[in-house]
Parts: sequence; structure tokens; C-alpha cells
Amino acid sequence: MPAASAPFRNRVTELLGVELPIVQAPMGWIARSQLASAVSNAGGMGIIETSSGELDAVRDEIRRMRDLTDKPFGVNIAQAFVRDPRIVDFVVAQGVRFVTTSAGSPTRYTPALKAAGLTVFHVVPSLHGALKAVEAGVDGLVVEGGEGGGFKNPRDVATMVLLPLVASRVRVPIIAAGGMVDGASMAAAFALGAEGIQMGTRMVSALESPVHEAWKQAVVAAAETDTVFLNRRHGPGLRALRTARSESLESAEQNAMSEFGDRERVMRLYFGGDLEASLALCGQVAGRIDAVRPVAEILRETADECRAILARLGARYGGG
Ligand SMILES: Cc1cc2nc3c(=O)[nH]c(=O)nc-3n(C[C@H](O)[C@H](O)[C@H](O)COP(=O)(O)O)c2cc1C
Repeated sequence: MPAASAPFRNRVTELLGVELPIVQAPMGWIARSQLASAVSNAGGMGIIETSSGELDAVRDEIRRMRDLTDKPFGVNIAQAFVRDPRIVDFVVAQGVRFVTTSAGSPTRYTPALKAAGLTVFHVVPSLHGALKAVEAGVDGLVVEGGEGGGFKNPRDVATMVLLPLVASRVRVPIIAAGGMVDGASMAAAFALGAEGIQMGTRMVSALESPVHEAWKQAVVAAAETDTVFLNRRHGPGLRALRTARSESLESAEQNAMSEFGDRERVMRLYFGGDLEASLALCGQVAGRIDAVRPVAEILRETADECRAILARLGARYGGG
């Protein structure tokens, strides 16, 4: 039996009902059925976004997921972007079993989601946030370091510091996010206390990602120093690909959120490939991505490589 088909059994695979504890990050407009079904079909956890706020489109995407995969998939509620409290009823009505909540207080939706029988993981950027989420009754945490792409706590903490800190203080299972891209980062995350990983930037640049090829190629071309962290003073902080526009905002006084522009500008970037039209959210790990690859290959290689590294380290340093 090939190594990758051996199950990765732990609390994350048990709770999520997946073969591989690898989660595709929620991302507005990007985390839709084309990408999410590829992840679920490859044995990971595909996630459908709601942060676009386009719930009619999201409902169609979830329907499409049922045609494209019979494997589990989940939904993300990015609370800062979906302010309508009926989002809980919406998600429950879609029949999904797994939800991640992010960008807001874990006390807001966790009780209702748990009461409806869903498995809930909350995304946290700090120890304080992690303890609050555990108190709110979540099943697990997505611990997200500040090197990751997307919206961030303005006081960003790297995965290397945050993950072992949180792991030392909570008992719930942890999915590590921020910098996860391959078997080496997965093995490192497991060493630091995670039982699963979430990939954002890697998935933006995957073959099945719906974004324009220009964005994927910009990720491939990017060095590890080619992202900017914006909006420290205003919040939410955000990490995006360095372009002329985003670089000019690094020292700007204004709130960078206005720089996303309207939907037309966002669409021009996401699907038209004009990288200056809006802000291309992106993590530092872009510097470790050197090709556009199919999701199934990414997941299989990540799992194989992680297992090989853990075995090698065990053999070398494990004693006995
Ligand atoms: C383009 C993009 C959009 C994102 N949108 C969301 C979102 O809607 N909800 C959310 O919880 N996280 C969002 N994130 C953060 C990701 O979920 C993920 O945690 C992060 O990308 C992990 O770091 P990485 O980029 O190093 O993999 C986004 C990230 C990117 C790159």
C-alpha cells in the first residue's frame, strides 16, 4: 500500500471525518466548489467561504459540492464580513457538519452552532483568543500565525511562537495555519502541537484555484520578502502580496480596507488578473511555492513527506 493511503489517524481526522488532516483555507470567492471539491476528493477538508457575503452564490456552490464530491466538506463564517446573525441558520440549513468561525468573538455563534450538532473550530491569532474560544465551547482551534495571508490581528505573532504556546495551554485539537505548504511545515506543526494544517496561499496558487493565472504566477514568482503587512494602526491587519499599490500603503495613514475597492475592482484582480486593481491577500510562504500544482498532488506529497520526515527524525533522535 502506498504510504499516503495509510490513514493519518488523530483527533482532527476523527472529528472532521477526513483521511488527511489537511484543510483548505476559506477565502472569499476563491474557496468555492471547484477548489473545495478537489481538496475533499483528495482526502482533505474542502471549505466553502461566506466572506464574499454572496449567500445565494454560496448556496449554489454548496449544492454543486454535493455533485462533485461525496466526501466531507465545511463552511467558514468570517464574522467581520458576514454580520447577519441568520448566517447560522443558513449554514445549518445547508447540512454541513463542520464549520470554522473567524474574525470575531467565539461566543457569538458557537452555542447555536454546537446546539445544531455541528463541529466548530475557531480561528485564533493569540493565546488570549484561544482560551476565550475554548471557554466558549469550541471543538478545536485553527491557530493562525501572522505570516499567513489574509486578515490578521494587527499584533501579529508567528506560527513558531503562537502554536506551541497555545498547545501548551489547551486540550482541544489544533489545526495550524500560517506558513503551511508541504510535508516539512506539516511535520514542524505536528512537533509544535498541531494535529492538522490549513493551507491558504498554497491553495490560491493551486491548479484548481479559480483565480486568474496572473495571481498564481505572482505567488510562484514571489520571494519570502514579497508580502506587506498593512493596517497595523487601524485593524484589521492584513497581509498581501507586495505590488506598487500595496507597498505604497505600508506607511500610509489611511485605513487600507478602503483600498480593496468595490466588487468590480476585486473581481478585476481575482478573475481579471490585474494585480493593482485591489489587494491580493498572500502569505510569506509564497516564497516557498515554485509551481502551480494540482491539489491532489499537493496533498499526497505533503502527507508522504510529513510521514517520511517524522519517521526519519524518530529514527535519528527518538532514542531506543
Ligand atoms: C486570498 C486569501 C483570502 C482569505 N480569506 C479568508 C476568509 O475569508 N476567512 C478566513 O477565516 N481566512 C481567510 N484567509 C486566511 C486563510 O484562511 C489562512 O488561514 C491563511 O491563508 C493561512 O496562511 P498561509 O497563507 O500562509 O497558508 C484568507 C487568505 C488568503 C490568502
